[in-house]
Amino acid sequence: TAGPPGPPHGPDVLDVAHRGASGYAPENTLAAIEVAAELGASTVETDVQRTADGELVFMHDVDLTRTTNVEEVYPDRDSYAVGDFTLAEIRELDAGSWFGEEFEGEPVPTLQEGLDLMKKLRLGFLLEIKASANHPGIEVDIAEVLHRNPWFLSPGSLPGKPGYDRLAIQDFNWEVVESSRELYPRHVPHGLLGVVPVDELEDYSWADQVNPNHNRIDGDYVQAVHEAGMEVHTYTINDREGMQRAIDWGVDGIITDYVDVLLEVLDGS
Ligand code: G3P
Ligand code: CA
Repeated sequence: TAGPPGPPHGPDVLDVAHRGASGYAPENTLAAIEVAAELGASTVETDVQRTADGELVFMHDVDLTRTTNVEEVYPDRDSYAVGDFTLAEIRELDAGSWFGEEFEGEPVPTLQEGLDLMKKLRLGFLLEIKASANHPGIEVDIAEVLHRNPWFLSPGSLPGKPGYDRLAIQDFNWEVVESSRELYPRHVPHGLLGVVPVDELEDYSWADQVNPNHNRIDGDYVQAVHEAGMEVHTYTINDREGMQRAIDWGVDGIITDYVDVLLEVLDGS
């Protein structure tokens, strides 16, 4: 027999630099994207949220306190949520110093700035729509920006990885994933973050990827997702043993803060 279907794109395990090369540079900044490229990454993952005035920026947490100096710059605010600040206000913030003084002054990037840099560096983009319950309709705003950046929509043309796409989109909110998918050419992969129960995989086979935490899956789960016709891109694996285990399970992508370590493991496997 032919056996279970393999990944649709090819045999490689996709390397994905989580929030940029966030082991070496402040997450979700242009510096982290630059370092990812220097380390040889093919793809970077970042988190996208929307400001009070409708602009799209890279930020992981719902509020700005962990990764910026927002409490120093705006000591009297009741809320530090991304969606309660305008882009102009957010651009006053330092998103680098918390990680290391050499990154002082690193700004919170806009989605467009991130896209410009990724295109220049020939990087693929795993875009996470973050905290989408706080940003109703954000997938539509994101799609408008991506359609103005057609380099990312070119099918099967990830630099260095023939057959792989330059853009994939994921969200923990699976309704938003389904809604986003309608806004792009069919080839743009869409991923369900989290673990889809095995007995529900067929119901979600309209998606392209299931992207779970590596601690919640095993080889049988990866095989079940493949049998449902989807890929598995798993997060966030930072140690060699964990990376090798996921490769042995047959995952299609690994999301890591240390993309250099992953590339070494992939080279040896
Ligand atoms: O790419 C998947 C991963 O980024 C999801 O978790 O919390 O790092 O956004 P989180
Ligand atoms: Ca993320």
